[in-house]
Amino acid sequence: MTSSSYERRVMTFRKVGVIGAGQMGNGIAHVCALAGYHVGLYDISGDRIQAGLATIDGNLSRQVSSERITTAERDAALERLTAAETMESFEDADIVIESAVENEEIKRKIFAELCPHLREDALLATNTSSISITRLAASTDRPERFMGMHFMNPVPVMELVELVRGIATDDDTFDKIRHFAETLGKKIANAEDFPAFIVNRILLPMINEAVYTLYEGVGSVESIDKAMKLGANHPMGPLQLADFIGLDTCLSIMQVLHDGLSDSKYRPCPLLVKYVEAGWLGRKTQRGFYDYR
Ligand code: CAA
Repeated sequence: MTSSSYERRVMTFRKVGVIGAGQMGNGIAHVCALAGYHVGLYDISGDRIQAGLATIDGNLSRQVSSERITTAERDAALERLTAAETMESFEDADIVIESAVENEEIKRKIFAELCPHLREDALLATNTSSISITRLAASTDRPERFMGMHFMNPVPVMELVELVRGIATDDDTFDKIRHFAETLGKKIANAEDFPAFIVNRILLPMINEAVYTLYEGVGSVESIDKAMKLGANHPMGPLQLADFIGLDTCLSIMQVLHDGLSDSKYRPCPLLVKYVEAGWLGRKTQRGFYDYR
């Protein structure tokens, strides 16, 4: 996507808050700042925020190197990004996007701490990849101004955002967030509020099946990935993709599918559970189905 595609779009928000500076949160902050929004990036420690900002700097520079953006656009985006040391700094935000870990309890705690600091008319979105939007919305003081905005990894590259309304989301919120996503240069797919929505309802059982294929000895890690890359034209093999997403996130999504749809076909593979219990979470811990050390 070129920067000129941003310029033609009218921005309805000025300031965006992003909670969570991990791979999804820093990607969301990246695309928002590049699109012209002032962005505050929050996480539970200053070190995490700084690591997120450093990743954004590196990824913007990568886009400069491949001439997708200019140096001036990168510098302007970096100037619009600030470290939000506390949630109080979101008091002037037009929208806050929560992108913390895929854990309902943690997300609820974040909303409880955040909401008292928000302007009454501020919108709240969650980047949850599987959890019920209606249930999360009900834990906030603004269910009608709350919805799901599910970005794909790597956020600066992937075109899609899934939009998911909760039962109480009002039309004005939906319209504003759809427009906001378009100003980021993203394409929209609307999904209903069912466990894991569309992309992960389809993608994660495929990844889980790949782990079963490994568990049952049908093929090695390399054979499984090679088979799906060359045989089905996937850009990454399913086990490589699982490492890229994070095995803890994959397991959480499978658990949400299993619990939410009560169907044994969504049972997380015991090998996936074992890897997560071992702390082998994929690229972020340097070890998953592949060894990155
Ligand atoms: N920021 C900015 N640019 C990035 C980037 C990042 N984080 N990651 C990659 N890029 C850019 C590269 O610079 C390169 O740009 P140019 O074409 O301009 O040179 C381009 O993307 C391609 O990257 P690479 O050449 O390094 O590698 P690649 O061709 O193998 O592509 C990939 C990498 C885009 C990640 C590709 O492998 C891919 O599409 N993989 C599948 C990703 C996928 O399925 N994502 C969805 C995961 S599911 C999800 O996100 C939902 C969930 O809730 C779990």
